[in-house]
Amino acid sequence: MQPNKLNEPLDEVRQGEALMLQNETQRVGDKKLFLESYGCQMNFSDSEVVASILAGEGYCTTRNVEDADLVLLNTCSIRDNAEQRVRKRLTEFKSLKKKKPELVVGILGCMAERLKKNLLEEEQLVDLVAGPDAYRDLPNLLDEVGTGQRAVNVLLSREETYADITPVRLDQGGISAFVTIMRGCDNMCSFCVVPFTRGRERSRNPQTVVEECRSLFNNGYREVTLLGQNVDSYRWNLSSKGEIVDHNEPSVNFAQLLIMVAQVSPQLRVRFSTSHPKDMTDEVLEAIAQYANICKYIHLPIQSGNSSVLYRMNRGYTRDWYLNRIAAIRKIIPNCAISTDIIAGFCGETEDEHSETLSLMSEVCFDYAYMFKYSERPKTLAERKFTDDVPDETKSRRLTEIIELQTKHSLFLNQRQVGQVQEVLVEGPSKRSAQQFCGRNSQNNMVVFDKKNVAKGSYVHVKITDCTSATLLGVLVNQEKEQQTP
Ligand code: 5AD
Ligand code: SF4
Repeated sequence: MQPNKLNEPLDEVRQGEALMLQNETQRVGDKKLFLESYGCQMNFSDSEVVASILAGEGYCTTRNVEDADLVLLNTCSIRDNAEQRVRKRLTEFKSLKKKKPELVVGILGCMAERLKKNLLEEEQLVDLVAGPDAYRDLPNLLDEVGTGQRAVNVLLSREETYADITPVRLDQGGISAFVTIMRGCDNMCSFCVVPFTRGRERSRNPQTVVEECRSLFNNGYREVTLLGQNVDSYRWNLSSKGEIVDHNEPSVNFAQLLIMVAQVSPQLRVRFSTSHPKDMTDEVLEAIAQYANICKYIHLPIQSGNSSVLYRMNRGYTRDWYLNRIAAIRKIIPNCAISTDIIAGFCGETEDEHSETLSLMSEVCFDYAYMFKYSERPKTLAERKFTDDVPDETKSRRLTEIIELQTKHSLFLNQRQVGQVQEVLVEGPSKRSAQQFCGRNSQNNMVVFDKKNVAKGSYVHVKITDCTSATLLGVLVNQEKEQQTP
C-alpha cells in the first residue's frame, strides 16, 4: 500500500528530534525529553507544541530513551489496538524507571482523560497525565511531580488553540510541516471517540495560521498540511450558519483560509486534512482548482457505502450525497486524487451492506484508502445504542476484501500515470536506496527517482517509467525549476 504521509495509519509511531527552534525566547538546556507520538497527524503536530513549551523549560529532545530525564507518550484512543500499544510501551518504561528512579514518565493526548485513574493510581505506570488542552500547564505539572506528587490535568477547553505557540519542528526533513488550524470535533459520528477525548470544535485565528506558514516558508519549508478533524467546518468570526458574528472583524471560512495560505508564496504547496463529505463546499473545490499550489488531492472519508450504515454511524450524508460530492470534485478539479477511510464490520452491518461498500469503491475508484475493522470505543453513541455484533472473523474477511479491491484500484490508477511527466517536490533520500531521491506529486503519490544533482526542497520534473500499487518510479527529465509555480 502507498505509504501516504498526509494520512498516515493511525497507529504509526513517530519520535522526533528538534531540528529547528524558531522562537527566540525559548531556552534550550541540558534536560532531555524523549517524546513519542501515536496516532494521527494532529497528535504529531501537538507534540511539536509540547516540545516548544518544554524548550522554554530547558528541555531539548533526544532520540535515545536511555538518555532521557522525561519520557512523554502522546497517545491515541481511536481504536483498541492503539491503546494496547501504548500500554505495552509504558510497561517497558516501568523497567527503565527501576534502573533510573528519577526518570519522569507521562502520557499526553487522547488516552489521558479515559485512563488517568488506571495508569496513574491503579497500575502506577506514569507520574504525569496531561490531556490535549492542558499542554501549557506542563511546567506546573512537572513541578508537582518534582515534589513527589502525581500530576494530572485533563480539562478540555472551549478556547485553547495554542495559536501563539511556535511549534518546534520534530521531523528530519525540513520540507513539509503540519499546521493545526482547528481543534476538537462536534460531529459525534457514532463510532468515534474523538469528540470525547479532544473536546469541542474551535478554530484558530487565521492570521496566526498564515504567519506560521510564512515563517515555515522563510525557513526553507515548501509544503504545509493544514490540519483539523473536519477542516470544512473551520470558521473564524462566523456562526455555525455562516453568519458574521462581529461586523468590525474580518471573517474567514475554510476556502478563504486556503487561499490566504496559498498566497504566502506560489512555491509553497498547500495540503489539508480531513474533509467531511457533509460539509465540503464547491467554494473549497474552486479554491483548489484556482491555485496551482493547492495540491490536487482530497481525503474524503466515506466509512461505508451503504446509506443505512451511514445513518447508524451518524455521518450526516447518504451514499448518493457522497457520490454527488465525488462528481463535483471530478467536474471542478479534473486531475484530483481522492482517498478515503473505510470501516469494515460496523454494528449490524449485513453482507449486502458490506457489498455496497465494495460497489461504491468500484464506482469511485479511490487512489488510496485507510481501512479498519470496527473497534468499539467507550462512551461513544455506538457503544451505548448498538451491539458490536459482527463476528471478528467476518470483520477480518470483509476488511481483506476491501483491502484487496483497493490494492487493485491503486495499481490501476498508478499504471495510468506511467509515461506522464510530473512535477515532484524533492523530500530527500528514498528509504530503500541512498542513490535515489523521493518526493510527492501534487496528487500525493510518492515518486522515487535516481538522485542526480538536485536539492531537497526543489521542484523537479520526473517522467514516470514504472509503478507498484504504492509508489511511482521515474527518471528526472530536467533540472530544478526555480521560479515557476508548482
Ligand atoms: N473503529 C474503527 N475505525 C475507526 N475510525 C474512527 N473510529 C473508529 C473505530 N471506533 C477510523 C475512521 C476515521 C479514521 C480516522 O479512523 O475511519 O475516519
Ligand atoms: Fe470522529 Fe466523525 Fe469527528 Fe472525524 S468527523 S473526528 S470521525 S466524530
